[in-house]
Amino acid sequence: MSKEKFYITTPIYYPSDKLHIGHSYCTVAADTIARYKRAQGFDVMFLTGTDEHGQKIQRIAQEKGVTPQEYVDNIVAGIKDLWKMLDVSNDKFIRTTDEIHVKAVQKIFNILYEKGDIYKSEYEGWYCTPCESFWTEHQLVDGKCPDCGRSVEKTKEESYFFKLSKYQDKLIELIKNNPDFLQPSIRQNEMLNNFLIPGLEDLCVSRTSFDWGVPVEFDPKHVVYVWLDALTNYITALGAFSDDDADFKKFWPANVHLVGKEIVRFHSIIWPAMLMALDLPLPKQVYGHGWLLLDGGKMSKSKGNVVDPVVLIEKYGVDAIRYFLMREMPFGADGVFNNEALINRINSDLANDLGNLVSRTVSMVIKYFGGTVTNKGEKEALDDELIALAQETPKKVEELMDAFQFSNALAEIWKLISRTNKYIDETMPWALSKDENKKARLEAVMYNLCEAIRIAAELIAPVMTRTSPIILSQIGATECGWSTSKVWGAQESFTVTKGDIIFPRIDVEAELKAIEEATKKEPEVVIEHKEEITIDDFMKTELRVGKVIECEKIKKAKKLLKLQVDLGYEKRQVVSGIAQFYEPEALIGKKVVVVTNLKSVKLCGEESHGMILCAANENNLTIVTPDGDMELGSEVR
Ligand code: ME8
Ligand code: MG
Repeated sequence: MSKEKFYITTPIYYPSDKLHIGHSYCTVAADTIARYKRAQGFDVMFLTGTDEHGQKIQRIAQEKGVTPQEYVDNIVAGIKDLWKMLDVSNDKFIRTTDEIHVKAVQKIFNILYEKGDIYKSEYEGWYCTPCESFWTEHQLVDGKCPDCGRSVEKTKEESYFFKLSKYQDKLIELIKNNPDFLQPSIRQNEMLNNFLIPGLEDLCVSRTSFDWGVPVEFDPKHVVYVWLDALTNYITALGAFSDDDADFKKFWPANVHLVGKEIVRFHSIIWPAMLMALDLPLPKQVYGHGWLLLDGGKMSKSKGNVVDPVVLIEKYGVDAIRYFLMREMPFGADGVFNNEALINRINSDLANDLGNLVSRTVSMVIKYFGGTVTNKGEKEALDDELIALAQETPKKVEELMDAFQFSNALAEIWKLISRTNKYIDETMPWALSKDENKKARLEAVMYNLCEAIRIAAELIAPVMTRTSPIILSQIGATECGWSTSKVWGAQESFTVTKGDIIFPRIDVEAELKAIEEATKKEPEVVIEHKEEITIDDFMKTELRVGKVIECEKIKKAKKLLKLQVDLGYEKRQVVSGIAQFYEPEALIGKKVVVVTNLKSVKLCGEESHGMILCAANENNLTIVTPDGDMELGSEVR
């Protein structure tokens, strides 16, 4: 009988010189599943890769003075190195610049065009370049990207559109009738309520204002929208729409696409609609995991609070990092990364619980039995509880791993480890060793310890790729593999070997101090520059000095203040998103700089005519005020 197939993917990553620990999170989780499935005997295909096209990449390359291809080639090498360092066992690595991918994307675009699911029209709306997302006017929040809060750009281009709206009802049915398709289940309501039920609009799927992308074959001034290009990677990597599509035939549909929660929308709406349009089977599941947060915010390369996985791996070892990522937070939810929590996990779970158990056991087997024990010792009722737990644990771990509950799965394994440590305290081998008549009993105790360790070491293997074989070799395990972890007594005797300490304890205070010192240097700030403009462009903006004469909060909006501003020649109302930084009273009487020729808009039902200039960054904001007395209405230039 041929093996059952299992196809798992991570998202393909945008090339960036600084992949942070948040990116590693998804890849390590996917790797853990892939290893687990292989250990269970599945025929696994595990795919990751890079998403290399789009306006964002083209701009960065331009700023660096290299071609986009040079830029991505350089970075992709670093990403591959990082995955190697993290023991990521992907079977394939797809780059969207690979020829096989580019050709397949072109074919897909042609097919959809010929079918009438792609048509030509004109796009007018907003584009968030960092997110590579289109938005309509009413989707913007305070004029900013609703996903990331950054500025959007007005776009008007001749474009091709994908008939996403046509698939709306089918998508609603898919998510409602097939709860496994989108997990964890909270993501279902997010998609239904925020996107599907309000109604889908057709999706703009080509751009003409830049050229770093897959050219549309029959209209090459257009390049394919980067998300349409990117999503197809899951099938092009397997050779779909190429001459050799054996892997595609074998592995598609995917068992699971693992993705971060902010890109669930693309994977559970746009991607299945594309597959429906292509008459291809849908992936069995899209799983949207949470974010790893740092100091309350999502880690991101543009925010400067990056935690470098390479540094962490070099400091603590790959297994400590993998263990922490999978243990510290439940997979569907957000979790916070911090160095202290990491060190505490290393000390308590790894050095103390696991490391000590192994080194104590190995030392005792050597000391009391010259290194070899068998299953022929004298059993006692006291052993039953430990044995029962060791027999139950693999089953529980499988159930939890199947549900991607890595943290709980590891917690079950650590229950067994703790119970085994307790067994040493209960049986007191040092006391038994003093009594010649207790030799057979002592051997049973040692055997039980080795057997429990063998099982635990097997179960941690998908997460702790290096520690598991080291432990198995120190205790001399010969019966290895996932299936033997389920059989207590599978190994008849153990010949142990003393090895190095697996996880040395870390001095928490000294370590935290060292980290603080090392990170004291100014964080590298990545500045996103706007396009260059001429003096004429600038002069289109009319800026004038005004004075705040009244100011109050807007009840419905936490961020907004309503200001009455005296410009000398007139008074007007301006709504400003500064409520988190100023109390209304503190502003009254202050001179401000107002953009006076902005079209008036309504914000939360209040008219806003103009804008107040502020200096702002991620954490702070102050209003700009003239240095010295200036008459109201004076121009600022
Ligand atoms: O979105 N915690 O690429 P990307 C957890 N190219 N996960 C995080 C994270 C964090 N702090 N930061 C990033 C893209 N990620 C597209 C995908 S797929 C056809 C195209 C995760 O490099 C993020 O949630 O911005 C996403 O799943 C993955 O890293 C890649 O993000
Ligand atoms: Mg992203």
